[in-house]
Amino acid sequence: MIPDSFIQELLARVDIVDVVERYVPLKKAGANYQACCPFHSEKTPSFTVSPAKQFFHCFGCGAHGSAAGFVMQYAGLGFVEAVEELANSLGMPVPREVGAHSQQKARQAPLTERMAVAARFYKDQLKASGKAIDYLKGRGLTGEIAARYGLGYAPDEWQGLQRVFDDYTAPALAECGLVVDSEQGRRYDRFRDRIMFPILDQRGNVIGFGGRVFGAARDAAAEGAPAVAPTGPKYLNSPETPLFQKGQELYGLPQARQAMRAEDRVIVVEGYMDVVALAQFGVGNAVATLGTATTSTHVRKLLRQAAQVVFCFDGDTAGKKAAWRALEASLDVLTDDKLVGFLFLPAEHDPDSFVRAEGADAFRRLAAQPTTLTELLMRELKSGVDLATAEGRARLVHEAKPYLVKLAAPLLRLQLTRAVAEAAALGPAEVEAQCGLKPQPRGRPAPPRNRQRPAPHALERNLLIAVLRHPERAARLPPDLLDLLAPDNAEGAALFALAEAVDHATLAGGNLGRLIEHFRGTPHEEVIALLAGQIEESQGDDGEQEAVFIDTLERLRDRARSRQIDALNVRARAGALSPAEMQQLLDLLAKKRAV
Ligand code: UTP
Ligand code: MN
Repeated sequence: MIPDSFIQELLARVDIVDVVERYVPLKKAGANYQACCPFHSEKTPSFTVSPAKQFFHCFGCGAHGSAAGFVMQYAGLGFVEAVEELANSLGMPVPREVGAHSQQKARQAPLTERMAVAARFYKDQLKASGKAIDYLKGRGLTGEIAARYGLGYAPDEWQGLQRVFDDYTAPALAECGLVVDSEQGRRYDRFRDRIMFPILDQRGNVIGFGGRVFGAARDAAAEGAPAVAPTGPKYLNSPETPLFQKGQELYGLPQARQAMRAEDRVIVVEGYMDVVALAQFGVGNAVATLGTATTSTHVRKLLRQAAQVVFCFDGDTAGKKAAWRALEASLDVLTDDKLVGFLFLPAEHDPDSFVRAEGADAFRRLAAQPTTLTELLMRELKSGVDLATAEGRARLVHEAKPYLVKLAAPLLRLQLTRAVAEAAALGPAEVEAQCGLKPQPRGRPAPPRNRQRPAPHALERNLLIAVLRHPERAARLPPDLLDLLAPDNAEGAALFALAEAVDHATLAGGNLGRLIEHFRGTPHEEVIALLAGQIEESQGDDGEQEAVFIDTLERLRDRARSRQIDALNVRARAGALSPAEMQQLLDLLAKKRAV
């Protein structure tokens, strides 16, 4: 946990304009800054950054938030990672409870630097190697794409890295997987005579490498002839290191970010060369798993950054198996507003050869109409059973059960339940009962979790918007605010929390970004973030807004009076009013008339 006081201090020091500018070029427009939105595709800028509010907002797609929120959304980072990123940029050490995690972080910095040195070395070596350049050219790659992906060449030497590391024997070099120590105690470079593909994390640090054999040795191996020297596997990858966990990382992610945002779709392929070749042909939104099966972490990471994840694996048996693993990994992270799909290429192709043969448009067309997750699931479930028999239909439900249970998206699960029921000649309720799923109330699908809120409380909502526009207004909320608010509504609860926090430095200076972060992780986070996105779009100049604030407070008070009058009237009709209550009723009626 990072203490809130640190986050507040950090956000007080950081300027959202600097932060956004690191990723998106901004133009000054009046008091604010503008750009074409990095979160959706557009030609005219509707993305604005307010230095006064320390808040960004896109009028086109509605994206909004604080400086930390921007880094989270742009780089697909979690909150803690985003805070670390901001703190690093200011040189502020992040305080946290001392634990294994922080010690690990401290150890990683030198490893990251070593990986960067190695990547630069391999890159320089590529410039000097005619045969490596020829190989890449032969695969249709231009220098521009090679540079974009930082491709390199590991020279055919046992200790080539000694040229850039004076301390070649340091333990850190083994720890980051660049060298191997033999049993005889000899140390040598892990990658030799290979084309090098650096693997970057989301922030652009080199955390690993893939190295491909090529040239004469490779050809000999391919033809089954005894190779002069053992060449090892076609691709050699960095081992798992403190920096590099294959189940979490995706090749090509930082390079794909812009295109995947623009298309709101990311394509997941199997190979390094697939990613690079697709980019070469103009399909920039592809990433690759790293010689491992797709994990839920992979899918979660990608779904945070694009609405559609399309897996495109080879048309062969291995590719089909990989698709199935990807499907399984997607089930528990999928939500109803996202789509996971599958693109199966003709058996003779991988994405690299396909885009070369058919072109980028053909590839894009296929990617836009993938087989959906439920289509694939139903197809596979049905293919193994004979639905003409009772046994086959029973088996279908039996086999569908674990998938239905695991699928996290409630509406999609409902659809899938229907499909399974239909195929098994049962009713959906019967399938649900058999699978231990809660039956849905008839005629009303389950609302997605956290989505549906009670009917909007317009007055509370307007007042909250007015306070978010000028957080200083929280100090002007009346002491009996609680009596004015309708019970059980998120807006009212947030207003009360704002009034309670009025002495907190967060509410001074109109800094909306800090206010949002102050309420992150509280029950008010969601409604505040939601309405913060609407304040820029709410109409009226400052004067009108001030009138709305005052008027809304008056209306709330009037509503409270009416309620009290109603309650007292009920008692009066029953003849149960005390003299004091009678006086109160008369006072209330007089005030009400005066309003
Ligand atoms: P492929 O054999 O399909 O390679 O392996 P590719 O991407 O088509 O490569 P080219 O076109 O022959 O150059 C797909 C992925 O599986 C992993 C790598 O991540 C590779 O990109 N792999 C493959 C290995 O890790 N080691 C291997 O020996 C082979
Ligand atoms: Mn290939």
